[in-house]
Amino acid sequence: MAEAVDDFKYVDFCKGINGLDKVVLREVRGSSAEVYLYGGQVTSWKNDHGEELLFMSNKAIFKPPKAIRGGIPICFPQFASHGPLEQHGFARNKFWSIDTNPPPFPTVSTNKAFVDLILKPSDEDAKVWPHSYEFRLRVTLGPGGDLMLTSRIRNTGMDGKPFSFTFAYHTYFSVSDISEVRVEGLETLDYLDNLKGRERFTEQGDSITFESEMDKIYLSTPTKIAILDHEKKRTFVLRKDGLPDAVVWNPWDKKAKSMVDFGDDEYKHMLCVEAACVEKAITLKPGEEWRGRQELSTVPSSYCSGQLDPRRVLEGGPEFDS
Ligand code: BG6
Repeated sequence: MAEAVDDFKYVDFCKGINGLDKVVLREVRGSSAEVYLYGGQVTSWKNDHGEELLFMSNKAIFKPPKAIRGGIPICFPQFASHGPLEQHGFARNKFWSIDTNPPPFPTVSTNKAFVDLILKPSDEDAKVWPHSYEFRLRVTLGPGGDLMLTSRIRNTGMDGKPFSFTFAYHTYFSVSDISEVRVEGLETLDYLDNLKGRERFTEQGDSITFESEMDKIYLSTPTKIAILDHEKKRTFVLRKDGLPDAVVWNPWDKKAKSMVDFGDDEYKHMLCVEAACVEKAITLKPGEEWRGRQELSTVPSSYCSGQLDPRRVLEGGPEFDS
């Protein structure tokens, strides 16, 4: 038995769809995650029972330069079309490398299932975004199946010039039925509505539910957001650090039909809640580093039994581990 545990492979490097390099993270209790070097993108996150927790479109195109439709694309150095670059920046359609010698983190972690990736500017990127940077991404699967993403972006320029960027972890959550889903933690906040020319509004009502297309950037949100899936009796808890905003997106039927890499009915089974920094860009002077972290976990919830108290979900649980 002891031998079996010793042999356990927490991290495996292999080939994924279309021969693209991927890294599989596994934990002893059965949870797993997959990360493609293309996009530095998490494409799968499964719990101890092998259930997929992230949405990945059946029509996703795993072929550069198209970004992969699902999982957790990284939007950098620009969120959406908020700037002169291509939609959501270039990081999601670049090949990242394994970072063999990442600088240490301030807190020592005992986690074993993790991988460090790095993205550096290519000549091609430098034409559209002429800045020197190192973008380090650590993806960790905790022993309890939690999924942590930590980004460290450093200005490595010697020219004395600062640069600015916006950012998002564009997480696609898998949900059983979007009309049965509720998001807690964003009520009464201000948001920019992408469907209304980014006009600013204040959210009314108790929680966010879905009955049509939604594309909103909630501003200065709390660090915890809960996504309640009544049918699955599952609540996702998203905790974030360094990322003040949160984008909530579902394309609904019409937009779904216009996307080549998304099934017509798939909008019913996904919801993007994106830990982001959009309203106020991050500026780094040479030598400065920014850190942005997202932690995902699930807790059981039961709509019928009346156990569902989102405040308990939002306030409870262990403190955010940095
Ligand atoms: C969201 C944006 O983050 O991403 C939406 O708020 C956008 O406006 C969506 O439609 C998907 O973007 P893309 O480029 O992956 O199709």
